[in-house]
Amino acid sequence: MHIPFPPPYRAPWLALLVLLAPALAGAQPGALDAALLAGTCLNCHAPEAPSGGPIPRLQGRDAAELRQRLRALQRGQVPDATVMTRLMKGYDDAQIEVLAQWFARQGDQR
Ligand code: HEC
Repeated sequence: MHIPFPPPYRAPWLALLVLLAPALAGAQPGALDAALLAGTCLNCHAPEAPSGGPIPRLQGRDAAELRQRLRALQRGQVPDATVMTRLMKGYDDAQIEVLAQWFARQGDQR
């Protein structure tokens, strides 16, 4: 059988896929944003880092504790802090919340 044109029946499926793609990607709102935000942190806070070290692992920490710690760093209320005070000034409350929740959800990956 000779088909002179690209099969036209494919077009509606392709169109549907293109239309659905954003919806599928958005199925978990903010999940990608959270991972992107947290990716920056993981450059220093390695998942395999010890929890008591100078740059501790953040995975599996309590969200409320992380939120409180990050806000304290942001406000310059952690006297011995170095980079984190400056770093957290670049994050707003909503982003701090997203980060705290994301790290808490990651579980302890030791
Ligand atoms: C350049 C390396 C670096 C990056 C990037 C970084 N941190 Fe830190 N983090 C540190 C260091 C160093 C400390 C110890 C406090 C200090 O010196 O500022 C720290 C401390 C912390 C603490 C306090 C830990 C504790 O147990 O008291 C938290 C919470 C934290 N960081 C979260 C984050 C988050 C969330 C991000 C991403 C937005 C991030 N850090 C990105 C280096 C980094």
